[in-house]
Amino acid sequence: MTGPVSIKELLVTAFNPESDIPEPQQLKAEISALLATINERDPQTVVEVGTASGGTFYLLCNGINGIEQVVSVDLPGVAASKEQLRALSQGVNVHAIRGDSQRVDTKRTLECELDGAPVDVLVIDADHSYEGVRRDYELYAPLVASDGLIALHDIVVHGDADIEVDEFWAELDPDGTKAEIVDESYGPPPIERDGFEMVAHGFGVVDRRERLSGRFNV
Ligand SMILES: C[S@@+](CC[C@H](N)C(=O)[O-])C[C@H]1O[C@@H](n2cnc3c(N)ncnc32)[C@H](O)[C@@H]1O
Repeated sequence: MTGPVSIKELLVTAFNPESDIPEPQQLKAEISALLATINERDPQTVVEVGTASGGTFYLLCNGINGIEQVVSVDLPGVAASKEQLRALSQGVNVHAIRGDSQRVDTKRTLECELDGAPVDVLVIDADHSYEGVRRDYELYAPLVASDGLIALHDIVVHGDADIEVDEFWAELDPDGTKAEIVDESYGPPPIERDGFEMVAHGFGVVDRRERLSGRFNV
């Protein structure tokens, strides 16, 4: 008889280039710490903005105890299809929304899919320009429950001028407390993931329960 897979085992599979799972565009220590933080609060509904090939989506579906549904948004034609996401999701209710996250009609589609369910966790990892991340935050953060959690990826930058999440994060004065999950051991030169170089990292976390604050070096 097999039991539930631990986060550690899940990460080994997800970050194994030989496995069928698309590799998450994350640093392992940071996404591991974020999953542990998320698991402290029994979320049922997670929204991810920025699916890409579905690596983090896989972890959200399989690494959160009791998760019921995951909604993942990306542009049409560039990200994993709904069928591919279903294959990664192990019985979790999956909604793949393919549209520009910054458009109001995309948000409306997402709200229809949620059918009134509060968002317990929102992960934003899409357009990394200042205006892009600000727009995603302004559109989707209001859907998050009053005790929910919001994570912004790539708040720490290593020399890529196109990644401006740090600027938005620095000025963000949220409804809730701010905390940071950062792998301090990671620094220049950039490391390669799936053929592209990761130049930024770090999660900025907004905790609406106002319990999490400060910097967590992992
Ligand atoms: C860094 S990748 C996401 C990585 C993914 N979260 C993971 O860890 O596997 C960013 C994704 O955001 C998507 N994206 C960028 N701008 C977007 C927009 N305006 N609307 C929806 N998706 C967008 C890109 O197509 C890309 O797939």
